[in-house]
Amino acid sequence: MLRIAKAIRPLPAGERCTEFRGWPDLVKIYDAQVSLTPESAAMPALPLRLGVNVDHVATLRNARGGERPDPVRAALLAIEAGADGITAHLREDRRHIRDADMARLKAEIGRPLNFEMAATDDMLRISLATKPHAVCLVPERREELTTEGGLDVVGQHNALAPFIAKLGDGGIRVSLFIAADPRQIEMAAKLRAPVVELHTGAWCDAVVDGHAEKAEAEWQRIVAGARLAKAAGLEVHAGHGLDYATAETISARPEIAELNIGYFMIGEAIFVGLAETVRAMRAAMDRGRGKSGSKAGSKS
Ligand code: PXP
Repeated sequence: MLRIAKAIRPLPAGERCTEFRGWPDLVKIYDAQVSLTPESAAMPALPLRLGVNVDHVATLRNARGGERPDPVRAALLAIEAGADGITAHLREDRRHIRDADMARLKAEIGRPLNFEMAATDDMLRISLATKPHAVCLVPERREELTTEGGLDVVGQHNALAPFIAKLGDGGIRVSLFIAADPRQIEMAAKLRAPVVELHTGAWCDAVVDGHAEKAEAEWQRIVAGARLAKAAGLEVHAGHGLDYATAETISARPEIAELNIGYFMIGEAIFVGLAETVRAMRAAMDRGRGKSGSKAGSKS
């Protein structure tokens, strides 16, 4: 409503507004004044946030033991360069982020912390004590290299319902990391999670591997999933495997409010530095958002 109000110019002095019929007219005036593509005219793009995942700074640190490089230092640098928040995954095996990192991130970054974790009692206890801005529930298997699939919220409905409620009661926003599958999205809405993060890994892998047909099919799943989730009242985030090109593409989807990106950015940082990487990612997202017909805006 605020965006609409801002977009409407006052009438010149002395002119009276005649024949104003309420909401349909308001939408017409808005569409006429802001140049939008037909699709985004139906839904102006939201501001798009960048969450930088610092897990792999900790991976590097843990390779040699000791304290360097420090993921909290990386988080502060990323924020200074334009990140809107920081994401970190406390895995059961503590292969990268450790409990003390999470506590320091919460204490030191002064921006939203998105705490990724499996839905276990141990993680529930730690997250309630840490009090991050958000918890993103992810599936976790010890033998996997990274989070390979989405959470099966359909199959785990009964276990997840009280878990989500406890986090919500603790003042923590819950996000469910799921595949862009209609059944999973509908169940996420039924579970009353405020946010879903759509798993972009299969799409990104297909793009990078040059499998055009698979990439297109995965992309269409993401587009449809983002629309469905938004229509179901969920805030829509996306992440996994994104690079500059795929981040730019997905930023054009007006339903998406946040991207969480880690591995590619930490890898790029080796060559050009983290601040430069964050700025380049922000620019890619802004270019993509520009294609949705509305300004990106980095803050929420
Ligand atoms: N979102 C979620 C839920 C994740 O588990 C991960 C990986 O930790 C990411 C985003 C970031 O993925 P990547 O490191 O491939 O950018």
